[in-house]
Amino acid sequence: AQRKQIDAALAPFLLSLETLREVKNKMRTELEYGLKRETQASATVKMLPTYVCGTPDGTEKGKFLALDLGGTNFRVLLVKIRSGRRRSVQMYNKIFAIPLEIMQGTGEELFDHIVQCIADFLEYMGIKGARLPLGFTFSFPCRQASIDKGTLVGWTKGFKATDCEGEDVVDMLREAIRRRNEFDLDIVAVVNDTVGTMMTCGYEDPNCEIGLIAGTGSNVCYMEDMKNIEIVEGNEGKMCINTEWGGFGDNGCIDNIRTKYDKEVDEGSLNPGKQRYEKMTSGMYLGEIVRQILIDLTKQGLLFRGQISESLRKRGIFETKFLSQIESDRLALLQVRRILQQLGLDSTCEDSIIVKEVCGAVSKRAAQLCGAGLAAIVEKKRENRGVEHLQITVGVDGTLYKLHPHFSRVLRETVKELAPQCDVTFMLSEDGSGKGAALITAVAKRLHNVGQ
Ligand code: BG6
Ligand code: GLC
Repeated sequence: AQRKQIDAALAPFLLSLETLREVKNKMRTELEYGLKRETQASATVKMLPTYVCGTPDGTEKGKFLALDLGGTNFRVLLVKIRSGRRRSVQMYNKIFAIPLEIMQGTGEELFDHIVQCIADFLEYMGIKGARLPLGFTFSFPCRQASIDKGTLVGWTKGFKATDCEGEDVVDMLREAIRRRNEFDLDIVAVVNDTVGTMMTCGYEDPNCEIGLIAGTGSNVCYMEDMKNIEIVEGNEGKMCINTEWGGFGDNGCIDNIRTKYDKEVDEGSLNPGKQRYEKMTSGMYLGEIVRQILIDLTKQGLLFRGQISESLRKRGIFETKFLSQIESDRLALLQVRRILQQLGLDSTCEDSIIVKEVCGAVSKRAAQLCGAGLAAIVEKKRENRGVEHLQITVGVDGTLYKLHPHFSRVLRETVKELAPQCDVTFMLSEDGSGKGAALITAVAKRLHNVGQ
């Protein structure tokens, strides 16, 4: 009887191939809506133009600062790029914490804090006097009218600072620098992390025309033909589109596969009703889905002797790294129990087996859904090129992809199954998105100077 109840709770997480195909097709439809002038304003997959029109070609050079805000870590970096035969990239970076009260305080406080971290870094590196060009990786949806302007559409993930939505993030950064009145910087580009990742990998592999993040959040960018981007003038060449696919499903189109646990996670989040696909596929939310299932199973008397402990009531206890540990095949059950104990959950051996099973169901579905989305993207690229077979590289970053023992494999298998005419190489970004942001800054700076 117990087995049956557990199976029943986890059954909605098992997606058939047919369902996954349906998800792929729906994603494709939403991608098209986002690109078309008439439907773009109400599209849930926003398809934001980035004004990045090519991948790196090795001629980039110079010294740049980069900021990397919106993933697990906030980083400030100094990036030195050499071009030509001895092309190389040197990077120095420092990680800074962004306390919760700053993430969810006022916009002014957030940007003052960022500038404080830049000041510390410049001091540390001994380069306070140099007015360096800066590329700002800002991993949230921004509507751009040029490479150095980006209006925040809305916060996602764990951020909710006031007075930022609808404002230009470059202006906010410039004002914070002015308020401090201690150093000057030339802010040249604002870049999404997917775009930075694509460029970082594109520096090594020119066939890299897609950037994927499977981390705290989930998102993809790719090079689209200009002629298909109706809201940007011009028909020649390509431009990178930041899909913001995390918002897929916000119109209800995948409600048929959302479980009651997904709905609970959504309702308890900072942005209810928004980023529904992201909430089924990314690191910030998977642990929360697991927690909701565990609470339900405990209520049914199937776990933890039917006792819902204080810890289990706590939002956010299951971070991605714990899921990754629990699901590791090398880990003995005793060690799983030890992890649960660290989290304040006293478990029997049987409990730990069930917890592991729950984690597995949730992360497998996440990887499959992410794969279905990516299959839609590579298929679109294939059709754009008008080829029978497409060879393409996807640059990838994010703790879920990097740390989880099964996520990346299931993702790759799903893409292969759902897009059999595409030969997809996954390239891990070892250098983060800051390097890519610096490369973009180098190109923008050169074009700008030529234009002057
Ligand atoms: C980092 C990139 O390596 O990965 C960031 O430099 C990106 O730009 C991050 O946001 C995504 O992963 P996570 O798991 O930290 O959200
Ligand atoms: C969220 C953000 C998006 C970012 C992604 C990964 O979905 O909205 O801009 O790329 O997280 O960090």
